[in-house]
Amino acid sequence: MEKLLNRITCGNCVALLRKTKEPFADLIFADPPFNIGYKYDKYHDKVKKKNYIAWTKDWMTVCKKVLKPHGSFYIAIGDEYSANVKIIADELGLFMRNWIIWHYTFGQRTKKKFARSHTHIFYFVNDKDKFTFNDHAVRTPSDRQLIYNDRRANPAGKMPDDVWSHFPRICGTFRHRRNWHPCHMPESLLARIIRVSSDEGDWVLDPFSGSGTTAVVAAKLKKKYTGIELSGEYTRESRKRIQNCKNLPVEGEGPREWTDYMDRELKWLYHENNVPTGQLSVEEHKLALFTAKFNSIMANEENHFTPNEIMKRLIRLRKSGKLGPLHQKKVRTSKAKSS
Ligand SMILES: C[S@@+](CC[C@H](N)C(=O)[O-])C[C@H]1O[C@@H](n2cnc3c(N)ncnc32)[C@H](O)[C@@H]1O
Repeated sequence: MEKLLNRITCGNCVALLRKTKEPFADLIFADPPFNIGYKYDKYHDKVKKKNYIAWTKDWMTVCKKVLKPHGSFYIAIGDEYSANVKIIADELGLFMRNWIIWHYTFGQRTKKKFARSHTHIFYFVNDKDKFTFNDHAVRTPSDRQLIYNDRRANPAGKMPDDVWSHFPRICGTFRHRRNWHPCHMPESLLARIIRVSSDEGDWVLDPFSGSGTTAVVAAKLKKKYTGIELSGEYTRESRKRIQNCKNLPVEGEGPREWTDYMDRELKWLYHENNVPTGQLSVEEHKLALFTAKFNSIMANEENHFTPNEIMKRLIRLRKSGKLGPLHQKKVRTSKAKSS
């Protein structure tokens, strides 16, 4: 077991975990191949349905075996086998706390059906009453705080919904794309799971490590980790990724680079919004709403800006003369009204 600690091991997760004598994982995140024909270098992702279901039962069983009594177990899965995963989990005695939908933009293009833009993420625990859930670590600003400036709002923010929409899928052109692996998760999504479901010193296991996202984020958040990956190449590359990640922030959360494109979008939104900078700077809720709109436009850019940052950018644009005057709304005079 100690051999697996703080490393990504190349091998078959079922065989390796089966040998383990005692439960060691406080948190497991599993993102197996979905059996939809993805091109991995070693694994063949299109097997008979009944074989895939039997294999799913095998790996879920060994994962359950290594999960500590108060541990949490997250599984990402596509539409095709989500029902099977839920049934197997029930048979294994896992308790479902959430059936999360990760809704992403840049889904795959389709012509003859609606484009798929989501993945299921199951959140199970071993013990329905005892588990780690650090709500304070993942709360987000509420509409009451952001938009309505409502004093009744909880200052700690609100719990995110079970539909997760602001984690982009890592597409081919994205800055954080690792071209040596065909499909990997955004670090920020893993960070939410690891923060909420593990404590300091806890041990995080990913049996399908892929590009090493879970291990990298666990290392960045100072947790123990174990990754298991079938492919030698993915293992080698993800080990390099871990070595190079020391002292780096979670991708999508660190200081962000501001681009000319963002300036153009900000300027466009400013004119569309038609609220002068002077007013935005004194009316907090208007700035919050403006920021929320900008962040939703930028959702695919893996960024999330604060009202303060947005205000600074607007002022900079205005000082450089690039913002331009707002379109004046026609004010109806009483004379005009009476005529
Ligand atoms: C969907 S990917 C995981 C991606 C990962 N979540 C990430 O963010 O990089 C699934 C991975 O499981 C690996 N794999 C398939 N069968 C395996 C097995 N029996 N044991 C370990 N890894 C396996 C594949 O090679 C592939 O890299």
